[in-house]
Amino acid sequence: MRQTAWMIGCACVMAMAVALAQPQPGAAPADLPLWAYGYPAPGSTPAPAPPAAQDDGAPRSLAGSTATFTMAEIRNGYGPADWFPGDHPPMPEIVARGRQDAGVRACALCHYPNGKGRAENAPVSGLPVAYFIQQMHDYRDGRRRSADPKKNNTNLMIAIAKAMTDDEIRAAAEYFGSMPWTPWIRVVESATVPKTRIAGGLFVGLPGGGTEPLGQRIIEMPEDNAREALRDPRSGFVAYVPVGSLAKGEALVTTGGGRTVACGVCHGADLKGLGPVPGIAGRSPSYSARQMFDMQTGARHGLWADLMTPVVAGLTEEDLINIAAYTASLTP
Ligand code: HEC
Ligand code: HEC
Repeated sequence: MRQTAWMIGCACVMAMAVALAQPQPGAAPADLPLWAYGYPAPGSTPAPAPPAAQDDGAPRSLAGSTATFTMAEIRNGYGPADWFPGDHPPMPEIVARGRQDAGVRACALCHYPNGKGRAENAPVSGLPVAYFIQQMHDYRDGRRRSADPKKNNTNLMIAIAKAMTDDEIRAAAEYFGSMPWTPWIRVVESATVPKTRIAGGLFVGLPGGGTEPLGQRIIEMPEDNAREALRDPRSGFVAYVPVGSLAKGEALVTTGGGRTVACGVCHGADLKGLGPVPGIAGRSPSYSARQMFDMQTGARHGLWADLMTPVVAGLTEEDLINIAAYTASLTP
């Protein structure tokens, strides 16, 4: 039933969509909004990174977990720490350990065992299984890449998808799809933002570093640096968004505002997903905005992503900021 409603909705929207402008394929990375791809604002002096947490072999512990792991174990690409095994179903081998001889790193390394993911990668739990599988095929077949060719972790994601078997893809899709998406990002409207440094494409707050004007950006950072450093899958993110962005985003999302199509037609009235269309409520705003920019440039042009082409074509960077801020603020 849900699937049928989705198909009918999409048919109408497709007809409306042809009236909207086409995107400019192949826009130069120089034109990309730097904040969405993990770069500092133009002209700002990036803060020096503190020395990486030493792997002195000492066991680390985390509040609420009885386990201990060394830093090497926490960062092990082929079997990273699982701090809270009770928080998720048993992980398939490919999720927990990957397949080292093929260079397939464990999904749990970047997306966490619970699939929450981080601002610089992607939230993968609660996705429809069919959608998840389609994305892996799009990465594999060259239909989904980053508009920033230097975005290293997206390039790794592509290499992983190319090396996976269909059985592994299905096992991962069913595992992550079995866990509902729950709140993970706190959205705060603010004129200023804590100063940050950048670590592997992730903004990290500088304790005691003061604040700077936010401007027209979304800056999303870990709530707690110490817990993030241990890859704590219970410690989420805070996203600073421009003052007024939530109301402007709500107007565009719910009505289209004459510049786009109301999102609920395809993503479900509550934006929690409909049939094979993924949910967008309560998910990382930097991830969502980045994906919409990737779709605008044509870097992401998967089989189903083409339904999004007319949705994003006429939207400005400010529109996308407002939309991503609003969708991230919704309770999933
Ligand atoms: C090195 C870090 C890394 C590892 C390991 C990794 N991923 Fe990813 N994954 C990413 C990044 C980065 C993205 C976002 C890429 C983009 O910009 O499109 C992503 C995106 C995805 C998406 C798209 C989500 C969406 O909403 O469309 C899926 C599905 C996914 N990964 C599945 C997996 C699976 C399955 C594994 C394990 C076999 C895995 N990933 C391992 C970094 C990683
Ligand atoms: C015509 C149907 C349709 C409409 C309308 C639509 N979407 Fe989508 N959207 C899709 C489909 C289908 C996908 C999955 C694309 C794929 O498979 O790559 C998608 C994917 C996305 C993604 C990427 C999700 C992920 O996990 O990577 C975002 C973000 C998104 N849409 C936001 C929006 C917003 C915001 C609106 C309203 C302004 C909107 N969409 C309106 C069909 C639609």
